[in-house]
Amino acid sequence: MIRTKVLGIGSYVPDRVVTNDEIQFLNAEHQLCSDQQTATSDEWIQKRTGIRERRFVPRDSGMACSDLALAAAQSALADADCDADDIDCIIFATLSADIHFPGNGVFLQKKLGVSGNAAACYDIRQQCSGFIYGLQMADAFIRCGMYRRVLLVGSELHSHSLDYSTRGRDVLVLFGDGAGAFVLGPDEHAGEHEGVLYTDCHADGRGAWDLYLKIFQIDKLPYVQRDLSDDEWSEINHPQMDGKRIFAHAVRAMAVSAKKALAATSLSWDDIDWFVPHQANLRINQKVVEVAEIPRDKALNSIMFYGNTTAASVPLTIDHHRKAGKVKRGDRVLATVFGSGYTWGASVFTV
Ligand code: ACO
Repeated sequence: MIRTKVLGIGSYVPDRVVTNDEIQFLNAEHQLCSDQQTATSDEWIQKRTGIRERRFVPRDSGMACSDLALAAAQSALADADCDADDIDCIIFATLSADIHFPGNGVFLQKKLGVSGNAAACYDIRQQCSGFIYGLQMADAFIRCGMYRRVLLVGSELHSHSLDYSTRGRDVLVLFGDGAGAFVLGPDEHAGEHEGVLYTDCHADGRGAWDLYLKIFQIDKLPYVQRDLSDDEWSEINHPQMDGKRIFAHAVRAMAVSAKKALAATSLSWDDIDWFVPHQANLRINQKVVEVAEIPRDKALNSIMFYGNTTAASVPLTIDHHRKAGKVKRGDRVLATVFGSGYTWGASVFTV
């Protein structure tokens, strides 16, 4: 039986660390001002979210989301001992694409220097759930024999689209820049409990307006509005979020997804090494652990260091703890995600 295996894992975050003390004093150019720009505090952020710091690309670095992806992809390829030329499919998950179209997959392909191999490029937009949605696609493609080496990337550059004022503080303090990647391929000799064992993805569009970023609106003329008040401009150009509703739905969906994953695979927490939830808020993850009765010492988080990196959060968290020596090759992971849309899902796989 052919199983999909994770052949390599990589991640990348920019060097620039932005602490909770610093973020209050940043302006839209990410420059440190002497006056507080956003009324918030380290105490509020840590207590409500668990976040201590996040990474931002320098505003003048000329870096795009596909550059973060490139660095993560290169480290995943090295980890898999695989040449970029061998990749026959790229799946790129992001909500912060370089431009409106084409999608980031082709930019990454070009930056990897493998445009000549004409690998298929898919761009998917399931926000925080993007990586697990992409894993489900990669698993299906590989098991049916369509592709032999899939590069799956979740990459986000949030720092450019945040509102650096008190008006946007609920969202501003949450997000960070970063990328994570898997190289996946078939294994004809995998054991019964090796490789990607399970993926499950869902959505409920009734929650679509609980977290969104418009930038433009195609059903209105002019599509890109220029003559706006400051508040109207901000509403269109920065993410808008109903944090409380998202919080409640995220806890419910991730707890149910985790239980469903165990039932479907006939595994118990004794068989799972690590629980890796999406990193949106440490309190969400603590609640999921409580509600789904997950052993606390199996839950991995990285939000304190990186904030919410949406599509990158699952591979980034795994790689963070792998580099720290906690996660080892062959360990079995149960990951759950929840994101804007609403979208959610879960997967069980060995790393
Ligand atoms: N600093 C200081 N005060 C703040 C901040 C801030 N950064 N943000 C909000 N506040 C204030 C509010 O204005 C409010 O003030 P008021 O009582 O005077 O009106 C007060 O703090 C409490 O606000 P709440 O919204 O009730 O705070 P809550 O405990 O719900 O925490 C938070 C807000 C952190 C946003 C939380 O709701 C949350 O994390 N929700 C989930 C968000 C999430 O997961 N988003 C990502 C989804 S995934 C994706 O696809 C991108």
